[in-house]
Amino acid sequence: KKIILAYSGGLDTSIAITWLKEKYNCEVVAMAADVGQGEELEPLHEKAMKSGASKLYIEDVREEFVRDFVFPMVKSGALYEEKYFLGTAIARPAIAKRLVEVAAKEGADAIAHGATGKGNDQVRFELTIKALAPHLKIVAPWREWEIRSRDDAFDYAEKHGIPLPVTKDKPYSMDRNIWHLSFEGGILEDPDSEPEKEMFILTVDPEDAPDKAEYVEIGFEKGVPVSLNGKAMGPVELLAELNTIAGRHGVGRVDMVENRLVGMKSRGVYETPGGTLLYFAHKEMECLTMDRETMHFKEIAGVKYGELVYYGQWYTPLREALDAFIDRTQQNVTGSVRVKLYKGNMTVAGRKSPHSLYREDLATFGEDVIYDQRDAEGFINLFGLPLKVQGLLENEKKRG
Ligand code: ARG
Ligand code: SIN
Repeated sequence: KKIILAYSGGLDTSIAITWLKEKYNCEVVAMAADVGQGEELEPLHEKAMKSGASKLYIEDVREEFVRDFVFPMVKSGALYEEKYFLGTAIARPAIAKRLVEVAAKEGADAIAHGATGKGNDQVRFELTIKALAPHLKIVAPWREWEIRSRDDAFDYAEKHGIPLPVTKDKPYSMDRNIWHLSFEGGILEDPDSEPEKEMFILTVDPEDAPDKAEYVEIGFEKGVPVSLNGKAMGPVELLAELNTIAGRHGVGRVDMVENRLVGMKSRGVYETPGGTLLYFAHKEMECLTMDRETMHFKEIAGVKYGELVYYGQWYTPLREALDAFIDRTQQNVTGSVRVKLYKGNMTVAGRKSPHSLYREDLATFGEDVIYDQRDAEGFINLFGLPLKVQGLLENEKKRG
């Protein structure tokens, strides 16, 4: 019997190795995914072995994560509840896909993860595993073991000779990848308390941002960002660079109370600097190149897309169908957008595209060439006909 464990190197998943071995009498192979959390993963080898794993895979998922998960989501414009850039949610299917691949390579019978029984992440991991490898058993230690608190975890680790964390505990929980950083739990559980300034990592406080604005130009090809300030860049490099630029101007913070899939509301604080900038520029590119009806319908599709990502329903027929629709809408979303960043704010400084639908000769307040203002009268007569009929009826009723 062999189990693949999604391993972070933290106390919970370290304990999970020992616990799984005892409970299931099995071999535990750990897998740590590099999704751009900016931590040194090599040292995890020793830690995983000390905690009882037979092997540790360190998988660099960054390129695939940004290219196949994040960028399609950018094209969709999806947000959850109008605010959340879905940074934790979108990483889960990418990580779970790699867990499934490692499980196949290892001939494992099961996959285990360290998500709790109260959150969204368990759903996202498990829906992906069910879709891609329905034969695998899934183990979620947090739903089974007796450990309830940080103290329980420490006791368990001490008793079993598991290396204890050397760094001091943060008074909240974090999840980081190249797209975002999330904070929740602990002192953030009171939705009426403002997070302390020192908590933030990817963004400066807008109050401390430079007094001088910065311009950045993002190039798109069929809705996919491909260049920065005129320089072609791969997905990972581009996003990392956008994070730095937006972060130093305090762009990309969100504080919200959201509805978890499992029923309760939870308070989350997020930093998505590059992502916020990217969504903004992409939207601007669409405004220039996309027809009205497609744009308005795509807004509706984006809301649904956001739910699918949040609920972990990445590997579903609906998400694939939406991607087909979205890709068709992106056919002409090519060009570049110039954004001005200043103290937590973004404004558009310019946009251009070979497929621009914007025509100065049409929109102009100057002399008309292709638009005949006299046409508007007939248009309004027919467009307003139902209103006129309604009005006439009201009048007749009043007269009796
Ligand atoms: N509430 C966010 C979400 O559901 C963030 C979850 C944070 N997860 C974590 N393992 N710390 O996507
Ligand atoms: C967890 O419960 O493991 C993290 C929070 C969440 O998944 O929503």
